[in-house]
Amino acid sequence: MKKILCGLLLGAVAQGAQAAQPAPNDISLPEGYKNWQLISPSFRTDKNQLRVILGNEVAVRAAREGKVNPWPDGAILAKLAWSVKTDERWATATVPKDFVQAEFMVKDSAKYAATGGWGFARWVGKDLKPYGKDASFVQECFGCHTPVKDKDYVFTHPAPLP
Ligand code: HEC
Repeated sequence: MKKILCGLLLGAVAQGAQAAQPAPNDISLPEGYKNWQLISPSFRTDKNQLRVILGNEVAVRAAREGKVNPWPDGAILAKLAWSVKTDERWATATVPKDFVQAEFMVKDSAKYAATGGWGFARWVGKDLKPYGKDASFVQECFGCHTPVKDKDYVFTHPAPLP
């Protein structure tokens, strides 16, 4: 019994060391996001960053079916960003350098009614530090996404696929 408890405790400690803290608005880092499927890549010339926009199962199904205005409840969009460098073996290839941040938009039209039906959260750097001093950080996100209110507050268009 002691051994089991000890194992459980060690497991919990090990997990605690790795798990990112929740965002100040209590959104937890979505599980399994690194294995989500592609909705679109993007490149920001102002930030010189490569990004990929990924979706959970609900979001990817909606994207493939073109049912993204509005996006369905349960959809989660992730945006992962990297700084860039030139591929050392191919001068015209721009490739990821360092991981910059992971951002998420969680669709729940009732829970997040005050911010267009989306819960916003961001984790910064390789150690995934939650962004924002308190829950009011979402106003910054929501404010900048408001120009695309007519696209359900989402900038990304699913990339064309054959
Ligand atoms: C200064 C404007 C601005 C702010 C502030 C901002 N975003 Fe965005 N966001 C964008 C733009 C533009 C895109 C389009 C794709 C890109 O940038 O690569 C985007 C894309 C996204 C996406 C992918 C879905 C989409 O709308 O295309 C997520 C997820 C996201 N942002 C989350 C957040 C979160 C979370 C915050 C706040 C912590 C935030 N954003 C703050 C401008 C902003």
